[in-house]
Amino acid sequence: MTYSIRHMKDASHQSHSFKDDVVRGLKRAPKKISPKHFYDKKGSELFDEICELPEYYPTRTEMGILRQHSKTIRQLVGENTCLLELGSGASKKVRLLLDEINPKSYVAMDISQEFLHYSTEQLAKDYPHISITAICADFSKHFDLPESVSVQNVLAFFPGSSIGNFEPKEAEQFLTFLRKKLGHGSALIIGVDLKKNPEVLHKAYNDSQGVTAEFNKNLLHRMRRELDTDIHPKNFEHKAIYNQQQGRIEMHLVSAKDQRVNIEGEPIRFKEGESIHTENSYKYSIDEFQVLARSAGFSPQRVWSDLNQLFSVHYLTI
Ligand code: AVJ
Repeated sequence: MTYSIRHMKDASHQSHSFKDDVVRGLKRAPKKISPKHFYDKKGSELFDEICELPEYYPTRTEMGILRQHSKTIRQLVGENTCLLELGSGASKKVRLLLDEINPKSYVAMDISQEFLHYSTEQLAKDYPHISITAICADFSKHFDLPESVSVQNVLAFFPGSSIGNFEPKEAEQFLTFLRKKLGHGSALIIGVDLKKNPEVLHKAYNDSQGVTAEFNKNLLHRMRRELDTDIHPKNFEHKAIYNQQQGRIEMHLVSAKDQRVNIEGEPIRFKEGESIHTENSYKYSIDEFQVLARSAGFSPQRVWSDLNQLFSVHYLTI
């Protein structure tokens, strides 16, 4: 069996931006760090564990929806496409699409380099006839696509409700940018978590095994691994709440006491109870998301969800 993977690294220097983002984010009021920094190797592994938790319904629900409608997806998409996945992570969901639509090429984009390389190696072994490209990039910023992608019709795949990490306005801007990159004749399959009973949401982000807490606190462990700092994870607590007014889950790391830490030579003070806001995860009704997609220039064609109305998968065209 022969296979080849093109590894492309994006221009932004990641360790650099982690340091700058952390220092800048902790000097703000309120303190804030982007959720994209969760995903070092350890964080990506913890996220994979979250996906298996009984309380964390999005992953298995989305998989079920994709499986149920895979034949329809194949008919809608046709053949000879290029499949582009944004935030490919462990590349599990995409196998379903690779099996069903058999694309000419697959481009995986993810922020976690080690994770990306490992998972595309595995994929390449299992799908030797598909040309695979791995791009390590932060797609929350503007990115470039390889030329082979930009000249043909693309099916973009953005699963997991990662779109929920953007503020709604940013989500619209990001989708607008993506639409222009993909061009006419392309399509997007995007997973979007639905608004629902807050109790269900609360459990999904406060699991009984504490994996989500560990995932959140890994940000502090990552700081200790990569930066010059005396910040200590044991002095912070995981907090995840549903902000009903904004329609979002918020994750925070809450300081357990008044404390002063040093990060790269900068002193940072925390009051007891003061938080670092580490993530927003916006939830959208089907209508709300279609309005957003339309304002970004996409045409909603189909939308699928599960019987319990937990999660939605939209098929949008350009
Ligand atoms: C990857 C952003 C979709 O918001 O549910 C899971 C990340 N954070 N548990 C989500 C996450 C805490 C996840 N997304």
